[in-house]
Amino acid sequence: MLAGKNITVGITGGIAVFKVAQLVSSLVAGGADVRVMMTRSAQEFVRPLTFQTLSGHQVYTDLFVRPAGGAVQHIELATSSDLIVLVPATANVIGKVANGIADDLISTVVMAATCPVLICPAMNVNMYNNPIVKRNITSLRDLNYHFVEPGVGRLACGAEGRGRLADLDIIMEKINSVMAVNGDLHGLSVMVTAGPTVEPIDPVRYITNRSSGKMGYAVAEAAAGRGARVLLISGPTALKPPLGVEVIPVETAAEMYSAVMGRFSSVDVVVKTAAVADYRPVTAAKQKIKKQGETLTIEMEKNPDILAELSSMKKHQVLVGFAAETEDLEQNARLKLEKKNLDLLVANDVSLPGAGFGKDTNIAKLVFPGGRIVSLPKMDKSALAHRILDEILTFRKVGKINLFYNIESR
Ligand code: CTP
Repeated sequence: MLAGKNITVGITGGIAVFKVAQLVSSLVAGGADVRVMMTRSAQEFVRPLTFQTLSGHQVYTDLFVRPAGGAVQHIELATSSDLIVLVPATANVIGKVANGIADDLISTVVMAATCPVLICPAMNVNMYNNPIVKRNITSLRDLNYHFVEPGVGRLACGAEGRGRLADLDIIMEKINSVMAVNGDLHGLSVMVTAGPTVEPIDPVRYITNRSSGKMGYAVAEAAAGRGARVLLISGPTALKPPLGVEVIPVETAAEMYSAVMGRFSSVDVVVKTAAVADYRPVTAAKQKIKKQGETLTIEMEKNPDILAELSSMKKHQVLVGFAAETEDLEQNARLKLEKKNLDLLVANDVSLPGAGFGKDTNIAKLVFPGGRIVSLPKMDKSALAHRILDEILTFRKVGKINLFYNIESR
């Protein structure tokens, strides 16, 4: 995965600097072309010569050095990098990047970069817990900066707690995943539907369901992170839309139907996590319904089955459905996959602890055409989202999505 990748490592001052020697060595062994930048404080801990020897390149320490040929060094470093890793990242460099300060080589390169940036903080536990540092980390996460959380243990200053640089294995794993997930869906257009629909009874009441939208938002975020163009058609949720995703808010199943149909021909993949109401009140009363008899009957009529209709229209698109069940999971899931002619159905028993509506985790079964079922363990919705996208990529490899056709036809 790292072969031929240009990785720029920015080292700031902390006792963990010595651990970065091993990291640089592993990156080089993995095939990456590694450039190292060091702040003045970092050089107090380990001399640049160590990193020069390990990376095979001069170490960059000064903002105002003009390399031979007249190139502007910080811009060249920024634009030629596929990934920048700040390791160890002090509270100081995190604060600078979060607040738009570029007053040395590392902060200037990060500001000029358009590639992913991975930040591996290491500092004293009280510094890490400082609300200002926490706020800076949150705002960087919101801007799509990647983080590897520090580990817990005895710190060099003698304190105990969270703050020590994460294990190198974890950092390497994260580097591999950031490199893999940035770009492997590039060129694909993915439509995700999420959340519940809301069917009005009168101006103050409606019928809805318990869907939180978390699964669909996780799929949208993961697909955007992997380079896809993402359209999220969302029923009402309390969630913040992921960055870089186009959102169409809808309320009723009929509105979701129109939004989906209007854009279906221009997408390559549809992931339908939305919990669409199967029925809606035949008429929504214009005025608030007054309390009268002991019972109230509301006549309902069927909503269109959006996914079933898409499957009858589909050309090159890959269709992924979701099924929330409370009994006979596998049998119901196989029937739905067949009935709606899907490429993949993600089924989950919403009555299990750790699965279903409002939770951050899910326990899913992947059901494939032909009846093959893969049972997945309990996993975070984001991990499940990536797993689903991996399956979609597999379809692409076996030729079900003709990527080149899709790019040209757009
Ligand atoms: N779906 C849809 N339009 C509907 C109902 C469902 O597009 N009117 C989609 C959902 O987004 C989901 C899949 O179909 O991807 C399965 O939804 P589910 O509610 O589990 O299945 P239904 O077909 O509605 O069957 P039932 O409610 O009887 O279990």
